[in-house]
Amino acid sequence: MNMNNSWYEINIDISNALDPNFKWPTPVKNPDRECWGYTPSSILTKEWIEYTNSLGLECGFVQLFWKRSNLVHDSAHLDVYDGDESKAWPFALNWTVRGGEDSIMLWYHIPENNFSVKYSSANTPYADWKLSELTECDRHNVGKKLTLVRTGIPHDVNTGTQERWCISARLKNASNISWDQIVSNFRAKNLLIERNNE
Ligand SMILES: [Fe+2]
Repeated sequence: MNMNNSWYEINIDISNALDPNFKWPTPVKNPDRECWGYTPSSILTKEWIEYTNSLGLECGFVQLFWKRSNLVHDSAHLDVYDGDESKAWPFALNWTVRGGEDSIMLWYHIPENNFSVKYSSANTPYADWKLSELTECDRHNVGKKLTLVRTGIPHDVNTGTQERWCISARLKNASNISWDQIVSNFRAKNLLIERNNE
């Protein structure tokens, strides 16, 4: 396995995942970016939740990310586990729901020093670094396909000409699963789409 691989597309249909009755929030807190947290049943359809449960993937909560167009970061963050600030949240299942066609998600090797924790507008903890302290290890345009993304190393998304709305589903009991383990789990379930750089 390529050790730098920080994303994999997942062979799970998301075309019926978003609840058609979901009321989209309006960004108010920050002109650049905002995120909101939801229980799965308040944003995803019952059918999709049942389908993913049947695959052994139990969603615990969902985040919705919004970013304005032409947002280019000079830092990257990793997601910290809410409940134990010494732990990183290892992965998420993301897909773009609106816009973002020319956005790019970037990943960086994790620095060896300890991180200090901050809180986002959805009150989720994270740690961040200036890009000048980091070395890129992977990049991908997360599109309208379910994508397993590594969130326990520094990462961020730059947008292009379109604003971007992205769903990020977090599985229950994920905090102790390593990135390599979750990749192996999806591969064992035949849900992982292999990359051609292995
Ligand atoms: Fe993140």
